[in-house]
Amino acid sequence: MFSLAKLSPTVTDMIRFDHSHVFVTFHQFTHDKSPTVKKALSETICSALEIHATLEEEIFYPVMRTVDAADPVLEKAPDEHADMKRLIRELRAIPGHDDRHDRVLLELMREVIHHVADEETVVLPAAERRLSKERLNQLGVEMNKRRVELLAPQAGKVAISHAVGFSGSTTAWVLGAVGAIGAVLALATAGRRTAAQH
Ligand SMILES: [Fe+2]
Ligand SMILES: [Fe+2]
Repeated sequence: MFSLAKLSPTVTDMIRFDHSHVFVTFHQFTHDKSPTVKKALSETICSALEIHATLEEEIFYPVMRTVDAADPVLEKAPDEHADMKRLIRELRAIPGHDDRHDRVLLELMREVIHHVADEETVVLPAAERRLSKERLNQLGVEMNKRRVELLAPQAGKVAISHAVGFSGSTTAWVLGAVGAIGAVLALATAGRRTAAQH
């Protein structure tokens, strides 16, 4: 039987895509960028990581705990997400021209790289071994739906940060724009929902 869920990317591919999007944004970050561009790049990274961690915590990790409860990587993930969120709060309070901005951003990315390495070499392959393709697709649908809800209130701000952060870099802009498309789609979806309520 035809199922729309089969057309959705799997939850594991979506998680990998989110990781790539954060790394592409981070790779635009260099010491000589203007404070405005630095702040836009760090805000793009902060928003993407916050939404990504929430999606993993609400949709992906609970399922993995039912199939692989003893995995130590799953056990330490909540603490690592909490550390990232603490650094995100700290980073958001620092202006782009402040020397501490770069230091905290690099510390955040060091945590992220370590955490993503565990997810991509342990948790995602385990999910693909233990869960059926249909289940992975269905979780992908759930994740996409929740992403739109989380993104809608901040879609405009996220799209602007992308535009400023990726200005002047054609290749990276194209890749970054893929992330911004999610923000614009969320904005459109929220607008349609509001219109339907009137
Ligand atoms: Fe994570
Ligand atoms: Fe992740």
